[in-house]
Amino acid sequence: MDFAEFKQAVHRRFGLYLDGYKEPQLKRRIDSLMAVLQVPDYAAYLNLLAGDSQQWQRFIDKITINVSEFFRNPEIFARLEKEILPPLLAAFQNLKVWSAGCADGPEPYSVAILLAELAPGGRHQILATDIDPGALAAARRAVYSERSVQAVTPERVARYFQREGEGLRLREQVRNMVNFRQLDLLKDPYGSDYHLLICRNVVIYFTAATQNELYRRFYQALAPGGVLFIGATESLFQYRELGFEKIAPWFYRRPI
Ligand SMILES: C[S@@+](CC[C@H](N)C(=O)[O-])C[C@H]1O[C@@H](n2cnc3c(N)ncnc32)[C@H](O)[C@@H]1O
Repeated sequence: MDFAEFKQAVHRRFGLYLDGYKEPQLKRRIDSLMAVLQVPDYAAYLNLLAGDSQQWQRFIDKITINVSEFFRNPEIFARLEKEILPPLLAAFQNLKVWSAGCADGPEPYSVAILLAELAPGGRHQILATDIDPGALAAARRAVYSERSVQAVTPERVARYFQREGEGLRLREQVRNMVNFRQLDLLKDPYGSDYHLLICRNVVIYFTAATQNELYRRFYQALAPGGVLFIGATESLFQYRELGFEKIAPWFYRRPI
């Protein structure tokens, strides 16, 4: 069994569409895990995955990179706070937000903090999704290292976190604002009518064709007037063809 056949078999058996991921880095990660596990070939690895749910979780951990932090790229979050959210709140009052590929939760929780400050008492809906159940479990626990909160101001740390062992636990007030759910961006249906759709540092793992398809679907998932927020190292070159207007670096709006 070669790598292409392995990918097809994983898709058939587990519904995970590996063809959407950039092949060289995907193969490197899987090969290195197989070397650690001393599995001789792809057929043997497939058998191992089929019979052992812990090995399946380890496989998912390897192909998904869960690195995240609160207010990642603080200068861009400052723009979100000062330039993007106020007009959205003025237009829609209660915001429907989706953080797609939320890892262990800092991204949707950062938006929850901003909304708690900008529009306290609002009935905002914040959905946060990821393919990785382990990351979602960590997101629900909401206990973070100092490193994850390095871009959070001391005032916000004092206000929204409490010490728990070695870490910092986000207070219930913010935790309760976010709903976490498992969702595979390559195969599951998306919701609709989002006012803010955040997908940062996720599509970089996908092929150009898959990225394009995802951005097309994100456009459809946005409400007219809704905004797509992408990662600091990403750019949406074909935004005009997709129907977006660029309102600031890293922010694209579906016109009304
Ligand atoms: C580097 S993290 C980005 C976290 C956060 N958005 C940020 O920018 O800090 C990438 C996340 O994408 C998720 N991911 C990878 N493939 C995915 C897929 N097909 N569907 C949904 N999430 C996926 C991974 O599990 C991981 O948590």
